[in-house]
Amino acid sequence: MPLKVAVVGCGGIGNTHGPIYKKHPLAELVGYCDIIPEKATKSAERDGVKHWPSVQAMLQDVGGELEAVSICSAGADNGGDHYTPTMECLEAGLHVLGEKPISNSVEHAREMVAKAQEKGVYYGINLNHRFTPPASKAKEWMKEGRLGTPLLCNMTMWIDNPNESSPWFHIRALHPHSLDVMRFFCGNARKVQAFFNHAPKADGPDGKRVCWSNAQVNILFENGVVGHLTGSYDTNTAHNLERCEVMGTDGRFVLDNCFEELTFYPRRSMELTVIKNSIMGGISGFGETFDKRINRWLEQVTAKVPREEIEASGEDGLAVQEIIEAAISSWEGNCVVDLTAAG
Ligand SMILES: NC(=O)c1ccc[n+]([C@@H]2O[C@H](COP(=O)([O-])OP(=O)(O)OC[C@H]3O[C@@H](n4cnc5c(N)ncnc54)[C@H](O)[C@@H]3O)[C@@H](O)[C@H]2O)c1
Repeated sequence: MPLKVAVVGCGGIGNTHGPIYKKHPLAELVGYCDIIPEKATKSAERDGVKHWPSVQAMLQDVGGELEAVSICSAGADNGGDHYTPTMECLEAGLHVLGEKPISNSVEHAREMVAKAQEKGVYYGINLNHRFTPPASKAKEWMKEGRLGTPLLCNMTMWIDNPNESSPWFHIRALHPHSLDVMRFFCGNARKVQAFFNHAPKADGPDGKRVCWSNAQVNILFENGVVGHLTGSYDTNTAHNLERCEVMGTDGRFVLDNCFEELTFYPRRSMELTVIKNSIMGGISGFGETFDKRINRWLEQVTAKVPREEIEASGEDGLAVQEIIEAAISSWEGNCVVDLTAAG
């Protein structure tokens, strides 16, 4: 039986999740919900499903039959609105696939993860950048020991985004993705240190952007890997969105542009392995990372896997949020933040 699913929040991203469910054999799209009723109506009419002006109205109408929701609200730092609808849906016993960032508040993120645990439901986050065939291949190489002992991880993620809604919009809204890819390969972070700057802006305060639009973050992982994230809102995605490099005692890989190309550089030979996404039956464009991620979510929920096996889980979303808040604390406090000592 396909999983009965609704989408909460009908902006561009809710309207990406919905049609993926609509065509997926493991899902039955029941309807759309938005506190701006016309947005829910428009999406629902397009897809021939129900619509509701609030989560409460949705639960009253179809709470008994619904099994899962995508929460695609946004809010401050693109995550401030997730808490209320997520808690309402978790409380009602629904499985939740939330958008990233899990929240702009680490306290709210902890509460949502705890609520999902308490209710025994699945909680996933749309950390879609790790759901690509080259990323899976690189992870396989690491498991096989092809890199030897992992030592270094360098990650770059940058886009052109003029958003000035908050000083921390860049690190909180964009870098759940980059930090999740780093954690995917290197595990949990132990210590974090960061520097930020603002790009020049003629009409900004002191001639600069409000947003800390460039970040350099150092991370010591629990397994001893030393990692570095370079992030920016002041460059052009067209020249490359992201690059992840992991080096070990026996070689290193470079994962280029999230899904496009994976190269292995062995330490003791010149024989490279180059894998192009097109020959892995992979992804034709960034949008398909959503299909891959939602497909995996549906497979895992349908198969009733143990909760701790959910890939890109609420716990993973919380872990990257903890790194982000540590980076902010490091910059504001001029210190290295030890995550193992955090409360
Ligand atoms: N995974 C990715 O690659 C990726 C890419 C871009 C954006 N995002 C994330 O997707 C999310 C949504 O982005 P967007 O651009 O569609 O935002 P948006 O602001 O266009 O849409 C959000 C919608 O949610 C609705 N909403 C807010 N609170 C609600 C509630 N309690 N109940 C029902 N509806 C509610 C709003 O009315 C709005 O229509 C953000 O968290 C963003 O960070 C993810």
